[in-house]
Amino acid sequence: MPVTRCVCHDVTFAELKALCGVVGSDLNALAARTGCGTGCGTCVPYIQLMLRTGQTEFPVLSGAQLRDAMRPIGPGEATARS
Ligand code: FES
Repeated sequence: MPVTRCVCHDVTFAELKALCGVVGSDLNALAARTGCGTGCGTCVPYIQLMLRTGQTEFPVLSGAQLRDAMRPIGPGEATARS
């Protein structure tokens, strides 16, 4: 089953991607608007990947992949736009 949402706040990565067009490609801004990432935190690496790649569905990632997803997004690297 693909990972497609922040379960704690019932918001999909597709919805978050669309919201990037309003608040920018910024996890903190998305969290302020939706609460995403502020519950268990499991979705945070996936949201980071969405911001980096524009993808909105992901396989369950390994520990190493999750750690890599959490590296800071560099200037110009964020590609998620609505
Ligand atoms: S799944 Fe997003 S905070 Fe728990």
